[in-house]
Amino acid sequence: MKVLITRSIPKHYVEQLESVAEVEVYPETIKPMPREALLESSKDKSIVISMLSDTIDKEFIDNNPDLKAVINLAVGYDNIDIDYARSKDITVCNTPDVLTETTAELAFTLMFVTARRIIEANELVKEGNWVGWSPYLLAGLDVYKKTVGIFGMGNIGTALAKRCIGLNMHVQYHNRSESEAAKALGANYVSFNELLETSDFIICTAPLTNETKNIFNKDAFKKMKSSVIFINIGRGGHVVENDLLEAIQNEEIYAAGIDVLNNEPVGKEHPFLSEKRITVLPHIGSATVDTRNAMIELCIKNAELIIEGKKPVSEVKNN
Ligand code: GLV
Ligand code: GLV
Repeated sequence: MKVLITRSIPKHYVEQLESVAEVEVYPETIKPMPREALLESSKDKSIVISMLSDTIDKEFIDNNPDLKAVINLAVGYDNIDIDYARSKDITVCNTPDVLTETTAELAFTLMFVTARRIIEANELVKEGNWVGWSPYLLAGLDVYKKTVGIFGMGNIGTALAKRCIGLNMHVQYHNRSESEAAKALGANYVSFNELLETSDFIICTAPLTNETKNIFNKDAFKKMKSSVIFINIGRGGHVVENDLLEAIQNEEIYAAGIDVLNNEPVGKEHPFLSEKRITVLPHIGSATVDTRNAMIELCIKNAELIIEGKKPVSEVKNN
């Protein structure tokens, strides 16, 4: 079988797969495969190991009658037209579980970074503007004892809730359905409105679906406390960026920590970057060496099983 990997990955992983398949690897480590190249290279492949920056849509799928499986190097798969892939009997896999704790840690980090104004503080010193100790210099907000509202109580939300409970935070959440794991931790299920109105930190860890697209919009930001910190580690599509920008500029919310944007990557001209109270990260939720290795290993394992005619270990089941 022929396999395309749409980004450079460590050589030993490629060699592992080469013992059972013919493998083409796009040589870039940072830049996504241009669309034309992606369509051209994937044409004769049975399996594509894709990145979340690759759009696997009807055009891509129709372009390749031999396609049997798409294995996404991410837990999220909103870049894939999953219904269309299924209608063509294409197996879709993702990388759940192996990135749960690491991604929860980034959300946790962003709570402190935004509440304690860490980026601003570091910039002040680097810019030579530290002129002396002062009672309210970069005074921020406490995290412990506060109420955190987690939007999306899947594996990552649950791992985050555990950490928050360790800080004596009050944990509440909103999700499509109530979570037994969250209940066992002592987290309260609340309506979306209650989450917006009563949380001190609102953290979006949800996957992007039609129901959650643009859910954090002007109305939502207006309902939040003016002292709230909004954090998004899910997908940029959950947020109407201009509404978030206005909420920050009008001081309707206190700060935001954003790991995911609508159109990634963004350049210096993105309006969020001129706001001191918005911390922007370049989609690094699962970016530790160990976790990225584990994600790649899981993709390779899935590919090997599919090549052997067996069931992959992490097929996307529901949508
Ligand atoms: C990253 O955003 C992922 O979905 O794994
Ligand atoms: C990801 O694993 C999630 O369910 O949040």
